[in-house]
Amino acid sequence: MEIVELKNGIYWVGAIDWNVRDFHGYSTSSGTTYNAYLILDEKNVLIDVVKTPFYLEMVGRISEIIDPSKIDVIVSNHVEMDHSSSLPQIVERIGNPLILTSERGQKGLEKHYKKPMNFKVVQTGETFSIGRRTLTFVEAPMLHWPDSMFTYIPEDRVLLPNDAFGQHIATCQRFEDEVGEEVMRHAAKYFANILWPLAPLILKKIDEVVKMGIPIDIIAPSHGLIWRKDPHRIIQAYIDWSNGKANHKFLVVYDTMWGSTEMLGKAILKGLIEEGVDAKLLHLRSNHRSDVIEEMLEARGVLLGSPTLNNGMFPTMGDFLTYMKGLKPKGKIFGLFGSYGWGGGALREMRKSLEQEKFEVWEKEMTAQYIPDPEEIQKAIEFGKEFVKKVKNEFK
Ligand code: FEO
Repeated sequence: MEIVELKNGIYWVGAIDWNVRDFHGYSTSSGTTYNAYLILDEKNVLIDVVKTPFYLEMVGRISEIIDPSKIDVIVSNHVEMDHSSSLPQIVERIGNPLILTSERGQKGLEKHYKKPMNFKVVQTGETFSIGRRTLTFVEAPMLHWPDSMFTYIPEDRVLLPNDAFGQHIATCQRFEDEVGEEVMRHAAKYFANILWPLAPLILKKIDEVVKMGIPIDIIAPSHGLIWRKDPHRIIQAYIDWSNGKANHKFLVVYDTMWGSTEMLGKAILKGLIEEGVDAKLLHLRSNHRSDVIEEMLEARGVLLGSPTLNNGMFPTMGDFLTYMKGLKPKGKIFGLFGSYGWGGGALREMRKSLEQEKFEVWEKEMTAQYIPDPEEIQKAIEFGKEFVKKVKNEFK
């Protein structure tokens, strides 16, 4: 196995999951990695571990560098099982290492693994000397779970923030500068689908870290590529995404039963394009919900279309709205359209669902009975144009 060294004596010893395609509802079309890091010092330290099926891969990488039994300390930055499920195995292999974790981390690990371990709780600002280096801890509740924390190594200017700043991507490369621009697309999808609802906390935590005045050369997250060329680029992207900074991109997100809602959606798209904006048409059975959410990150106007089925919205739209509401995307205006046969009901249900969660929904709607006629198609084009003007006007 190739040994990957971040800084002198700090190694990546994680695992690559080339095959995972569903990460609790998130479509990981490029797989992912579970990153663990080994620090050699007077006390040897393992930062986080990997998901159980990858235990031997991690141990193999550690063994290329040192005998795993020589690890003295494990830092558990996060309880979620992709970063902790092989902890009981590695603890047994080592003997009785000290495990540094947050207070909630200890409780979570005890509840998950029901095994006595040698825990030491650490708090924000607390340090732990391992010889030449001093590990410094910053609790980061809700980034991603209440137990989450960051570990910082001041002597090497390395930040290990676990889930924050990660991406779900499996590659042979370990550093962002070896991959190019693709990394930002994966980072955006990861932020939108995992961290978006936590945007206010992210801004607070970044502000706290900035105020601590800690210099950062490398950000080594627990998924995907390590930021070494320009770690501040991903910090700035998180600030922008958390602040809801977006361009004037528009989306038409829809499903269709016999093609009528699609006809309306395409006519609306024509209207958007005629207004000169960047727009995309996204069919909910051709695009995974997590890919649509990624597109939404930089969109200002989102038009949602559904036919009426059994007096309500189409099931895929229900699925999408449920998923989207949990992620709490801010700074968007929504518009509604759809076809119906007799009583209608889809748009009423969609509006209710969105307004309950305080999303801004344009009062105008575009509907057509059965199959839109040329006049209704023209109205849909105009509807799209008017929507652009409304959104641009609100986000001047
Ligand atoms: Fe990658 Fe919250 O676990």
